[in-house]
Amino acid sequence: MMNQLDLDISDEQVRINPYPTFSNLRQSGEIIWSELLGIWLAPTHATANAVLRAKTLGRIFTPKEPEGDWGIFNWLHADSILDSEPPKHTRLRALVQKAFTPGRINSLKPNIVEICQGLLDDAETKLTRDGHFDLLADFAEPLPVLVIADLLGVPRQAVSDLRRWSQDIVKMYEVAPSELETKAAQDSCSQFSEFISQLANQRGSEPQADLITALVEVEEAGERLNEHELIAMCILLLNAGHEASVNGFGNGFVALCQHPQQLALLAQDPNLHARTALEEMMRFDSPLQLFERTAIQDTQIGSVTITAGQKVGALLGAANRDPAVFENADDFNILREPNPHIAFGAGIHFCIGAPLARLEMQTALTMLLTRFPTLHLAGPAQQRPTFVLRGWQSIPVSI
Ligand code: HEM
Repeated sequence: MMNQLDLDISDEQVRINPYPTFSNLRQSGEIIWSELLGIWLAPTHATANAVLRAKTLGRIFTPKEPEGDWGIFNWLHADSILDSEPPKHTRLRALVQKAFTPGRINSLKPNIVEICQGLLDDAETKLTRDGHFDLLADFAEPLPVLVIADLLGVPRQAVSDLRRWSQDIVKMYEVAPSELETKAAQDSCSQFSEFISQLANQRGSEPQADLITALVEVEEAGERLNEHELIAMCILLLNAGHEASVNGFGNGFVALCQHPQQLALLAQDPNLHARTALEEMMRFDSPLQLFERTAIQDTQIGSVTITAGQKVGALLGAANRDPAVFENADDFNILREPNPHIAFGAGIHFCIGAPLARLEMQTALTMLLTRFPTLHLAGPAQQRPTFVLRGWQSIPVSI
């Protein structure tokens, strides 16, 4: 018999709106065994946070079989910062942190403004011509892709390839991808890694003021990135650097539209409220819902011992609606402060791109609503059929 308190992510209703299920899970316990997923689930703020911070729960990558077809996919993960643990993680994180400085991030502001300007000009043309535009395809999606491509030093003409490669790869993080999707992911890993390898070689001989060059040159305590680590780092930065931002901005904007008073309050003075509004957008409908860890040794979380070898998933979206931490947790309140959500994770893998994501999305939100203060949904937004990376397919808007 199916456990009534399980999380059935194949259920369309759960994918459309997982929050009632999250609420049931939180009420039934701080940590729950999922028969369906074969892992423990941490649905409260305290347990999800503890899972992400526990030193004895690691991100352990299980290589896919057969190695021949999955070879590149496997090393792109095994050699990436996100899928490694100390001491390798410490070494990779120190290297990337050295190249990814606050100065480099802050200097991106004029570029972000210019990109937003261009996208909003095009959106205005569409508004005049068609009466609507797609907030996702015309704004939320191209913005972070262009920003991260410029930051790394990927030429703009390669941006559509980059988006396709990334989309193919992230489909592997959902449950039960199809054969066609699997093949596409393998091909994309091969094309993407070849592309980055060539670019890195070029930068080795002709350095530029970009992050790829910085990563080629970076050295910490006599250590450098080897070739696979360098490629894996660039690909992770390019993918992680836009997938969550696209969906985070899209989810947050739909939430704003579903709460017109909050949207009107923000539109009255976007400069004043963008910072807290953005944090509430990340909390209320988080773009990344589930991150798994494997117990390296028996680990106590809440009242449960995760035994060595077992897996546990931190449910970020559930944690971010936990009434034990957030007053009126199901209310969308752009003035909420403090807002200790964990949409950017916690512990040693805490999102390295959080300062960039915040700068980019606050700027985007302010510029969008300054230009179009009466922006609203022009029809039903279309959801993606995914659980882990939660987002929208299209968000038609008009003024
Ligand atoms: C709304 C935007 C974003 C969200 C919600 C987000 C969320 C997250 C989360 C939850 C993690 C931790 C995963 C785990 O613990 O297993 C993470 C890690 C990471 N993120 Fe982000 N992220 C965002 C934007 C970005 C951007 C813009 C970049 C790059 C420029 C980036 C690069 C990374 C990297 C490299 C890691 C791995 C860090 C490590 O393993 O030490 N992210 N992100």
